Formats: sequence, C-alpha cells, structure tokens
Amino acid sequence: MCGIVGYIGKRKAWPILIEGLKRLEYRGYDSAGVALTKDNGQMNVYKAVGRVADLEREAEGKDLSGCVGIAHTRWATHGKPTAANAHPHCSQDGRIALVHNGIIENYAPLKERLKKKGCTFRSDTDTEVLVQLIRYIQQAGDMELLPAVQLALKEVVGAYAIAVTDRNRPDQIVAARRSSPLVIGIGQDEYFLASDATAIAAYTNQAIYLEDGETAVLQVGEPLKITDLDNVECTHKAQAIATDMGRLEKGEYPHFMLKEIYEQPSCMADCMRGRICQGEVTLSAVNMYRERLAAAHRFVIVACGTSWHAGLIGKQLIENFCRTPVEVEYASEFRYRNPVITPDDVVIALSQSGETADTLAAVELAKERGAFVYGICNTVGSSIARATHTGSYIHVGPEIGVASTKAFTGQVTVLTLLALALAKEKGTMTEKDYHDTVRQLENIPRSMQTVLKEDTRIAILARTFTYARNFIYLGRGYAYPVALEGALKLKEISYIHAEGYPAAEMKHGPIALIDKEMPVVVIAPRTALYEKVLSNIEEIKARGGRIVTLVTEGDTVVSRMADYSISLPPTAECLLPLVASIPLQLLAYHIAVCRGMDVDKPRNLAKSVTVE
Ligand code: AGP
Repeated sequence: MCGIVGYIGKRKAWPILIEGLKRLEYRGYDSAGVALTKDNGQMNVYKAVGRVADLEREAEGKDLSGCVGIAHTRWATHGKPTAANAHPHCSQDGRIALVHNGIIENYAPLKERLKKKGCTFRSDTDTEVLVQLIRYIQQAGDMELLPAVQLALKEVVGAYAIAVTDRNRPDQIVAARRSSPLVIGIGQDEYFLASDATAIAAYTNQAIYLEDGETAVLQVGEPLKITDLDNVECTHKAQAIATDMGRLEKGEYPHFMLKEIYEQPSCMADCMRGRICQGEVTLSAVNMYRERLAAAHRFVIVACGTSWHAGLIGKQLIENFCRTPVEVEYASEFRYRNPVITPDDVVIALSQSGETADTLAAVELAKERGAFVYGICNTVGSSIARATHTGSYIHVGPEIGVASTKAFTGQVTVLTLLALALAKEKGTMTEKDYHDTVRQLENIPRSMQTVLKEDTRIAILARTFTYARNFIYLGRGYAYPVALEGALKLKEISYIHAEGYPAAEMKHGPIALIDKEMPVVVIAPRTALYEKVLSNIEEIKARGGRIVTLVTEGDTVVSRMADYSISLPPTAECLLPLVASIPLQLLAYHIAVCRGMDVDKPRNLAKSVTVE
C-alpha cells in the first residue's frame, strides 16, 4: 500500500528518498513521486507510473538538488495509476506539496466546496483535495503551514498519514497521522520520515511513532515538535528501531519470497527462543495476565488473509488444548456487523504488519465493548501491537515478499505456544500430552529443514502445472486451513485460480469441477482422518483429476494413488500446518517463476493494507 518517505537535514534529500522508496517497494504500488525543495524556495516535483526505477529514469538529468524532500509510492484507490494521480500533489499555486497514505472519505463535498471557491483540480485523487484545502485555509488566514494543516485535518473524515512541505518554509516538513502509520527517525541535525522503519533504518536507530490525531514539525536545528490538532503538546520518547538490515537484503536468493521460505527453520527457532524452558512454555503476556486469559469465556480471533488462515489453526489449537470456544472472524466483517462481544471475551488480533486497517478497527471495536485484546504481530511497535492490551511478537524478522510465508508459520507457532500456556494454566491437557507436544514443537525447525529438501522435486513438478488454469487444494482438520493458505499463495503470485476446501466438502459441489485438466493438491498425512482422505482421493481419481499429495514419509499407499507426491516428516497432527505449508509455498513460488511472474511484487497487491 502507499508508502511515504521524507527527509530534512544537511544531506541531499534525493538519494535518501529513493533508497527509502525502494525499501518500501514491498508494500505494493503502481506509481511513485518526489518533491524536492531547495533553500531558495524552488520546488521540483517528479512523478512516474511504474516502479521507483521508472521515477529515477524520469528524473535523469534534471535538478535533483535540495536538502528537504517528500516522496511516495502510490497504490491506486481514487483514480487510475497515472502520473497525474501520483503523489506528491501540489496546491494550485504550487506552493505546497503533500504525500498521503490513506483515504479522505469526505473528499467529494470538500472538492465541491473548493471548486466553488475557484480551485481547479488536476487529478482524480482524494489527496489533491486535502492539499488544496490546506492551502486555501493557509491563504485565507494568512498563516503558517502547521495551523493550516491542523485546521484542514479537523474537516477531514477518513484515514491519513501525510507529509507536507511549503516552499516558503524550506526549513520544515509538517507531518500528521490518523489510522495510517508514520514513523519519524531522529538523526544528528536531521530528521527522517517513513511509513515504516525499514525505509530509514539505514540512517538512524532512534524513532518516534506518531499516534492518531498528532501532528509533527520537523525543522532543522529545532527539537521535534509534536502536537495534537488543537496544538496541545504531546510527549514522546524516542525508541530504538529494531531492524536487522541483513534481513532487508535478498542475499543469494533470486526473490525475497524464496529467502523467507528458507528462513522458516531459523525463524521458528527465534520465535520459540526463551519461550520454552526445560519443557515448559513461558509467554510473558500469559504470565502477566494469566487469570484474565484463563477466565475467558470465549476467544474471538480477528484477522485478514493469510493471518485469518493462521487464526483457523489457532481455533483448533485453543479448542483442543484448552476446551474454550473460539470464533475466527474476518476483521473486515467483524468491524461492521455489530458483533456480540462482552468483557468476558478475549479478542486475539493477528497481523503480520500490525497495520492492517480492518484488523486495527476490529481491535478498537473489541476494546470499546470491554473485551481484553491480545495482539500477535510481527512488526515491533506497529499500530496493532500498540493498540492491544497485551500480546506476543512472532519475531520472524521483516517479511518483504508480498506473499506471506514465514509470518504465517510464525503466527501458528505463537498460537501453539499460547494454547499450550493456557492449557497448562487451566489444567486442560494431561502432563504427557503437554510435554509431548512441547517436545515436538521444539523439533519443528528440524522438520522444516527436512521438508525444504523437497524443493528441487517441487521445482520440477511445478513445470508440469505451469499452464494450469485452475487448482483445487484439499485438507481436513488442521490441514484444511493449510489447503486454504496453499490456494491463496498460488492465486497471489501466479494468478492461477485456486480454491481450498475441506476434503469431505468436495462431494457437495466442487467435485463437479474435476476433470483431467484439474490439478488437485491433497494434504494427506497419516492423521486420524487418513482413511477418510483416502476415500476422497479415490473420488477424484475416479473422475480423472490430476492428484498431487502431501504424504507422511514412507507412505506408499497414497503415493501409488497420486500422480505426484511430496513427503512430509512424521509430525504431530496439531503441528502439521507448520510443516505442510512449506511445500505449498514452494509449489506456488515455482509455478509463478515458471510463468515469469514478479513474485515479490504481484500485481494489484499490497503488503500492508492500510485502507479499507
Ligand atoms: C498474504 O500472503 C497476503 N498478502 C495477505 O492476505 C495478508 O495476509 C493480509 O493482508 C493480512 O495482513 P496482515 O497480516 O499484515 O494483517
């Protein structure tokens, strides 16, 4: 989704802004732009449709000087991806430039009002309305930039993170946020600004995360000034940015997605580090809120996309281990359907980015209704991590590939730890089952290593299915969400239509789709439902479907029935998703590569969906 970068200081802004935009490319975008302001008040704006590299080409040979600048990658919401719609947007007289992440919901009436006052518009965006409004207020009241921004934002309905420059004040950038993330990096006589810390981590490790309703003035030689919209000062303490820069590079891998798939064994070890001691699970959030969590009448998991799939696995883990009912909701539906939530509920918000607008709104709604909210996020200091009462980070490091891989297994690992810790607290698991599960969980990184050895075979298999038009993924019990996730991975990066179903649901409709053109991936390890899944495979075979199975190592029965099979090391049923999801990630990856797709930046997708 849109990404913002800003710089003010003594260095040339252009290279810092471009490098920052490249760091934010993973969020997904379709156009990019920069506004540079020089000491003499001259402002140069460059925009391009496409990649940041296209913007660099567009600006080649032009004036790139200036120590103040704001930059943006746009993910189209209002108006097509064109240069005119790309940010920065400028006021009619060219004095003010603005970049924006979010949606101005009441842009239409504001636009009409401004048109009546004589404003003309050059783009179809909601953002241009905001910059024109700020300038109109500034001009009418003959005021500085900050009060004009504050007054304009009071009129705005919607979500925003903005950075604004005024060519008459080339010594400052004004920023503000509501519901969209914005982090300010503090350097020596310089400030940085970004939608997430990865864009600025190379320059500083001191950051302040703006809160909703706050504005900031970044001025050279002045301390950072943060106020609310009524200009009341807000206090903040700078925090350390915990980004390992090595994790932001692809290294020897052709794509971030492949790197992140391969990182999973070490990421799961990191995720569990310090959380399993001598066979006992310790989660600090559970230690702190043990009674509140154990007393929950019900858990409600809210999430979107891949995180929602992890939530479906969390439901089975918590219900099986703790015997507490769990509901899993799409955050986007939950927030608008007046859900029954009481103070006896614990709501678990799952989000890799910690910035998903729908999940954040679901957290706020749950809090309003008195529920206790537990966040499971990857991005440290993200909005959801800060908005929840307590939580656990998944600690898998930055995930750059748009298709989530290691964050999914990280979420499932934390959910497993949480379910185990709660079961211990409630006494709902036998000592033996508890210790067996903990022991097997500790062994998961090794099992992941084993399954990664299937990569070459999967790459060959992928060639067979490069031109498939549809795919079906089937699984039962813990394998059902894995089937959903496998299908989502394929759709996202290869653009092949794919559906996941509980295997037994096949005969209630989807079986009509099966013919000799249809590849069906069946997750069929030796679990309690093994025999049932065998029957499902027979049903597909009888109709000519092409079967790819995931089987427990050494299972010749299923392997003989299938056209292709991939081996999984023997794994406890409840831990199966951690191992079985990896071959499906690899299958999607290799099919997409064979089809020549841009795996890390699939069309239309954004890594962090900060608008509704
Ligand atoms: C996963 O591959 C997707 N790109 C997407 O479904 C993602 O999981 C979803 O947007 C939720 O993101 P979050 O975990 O950052 O909240």
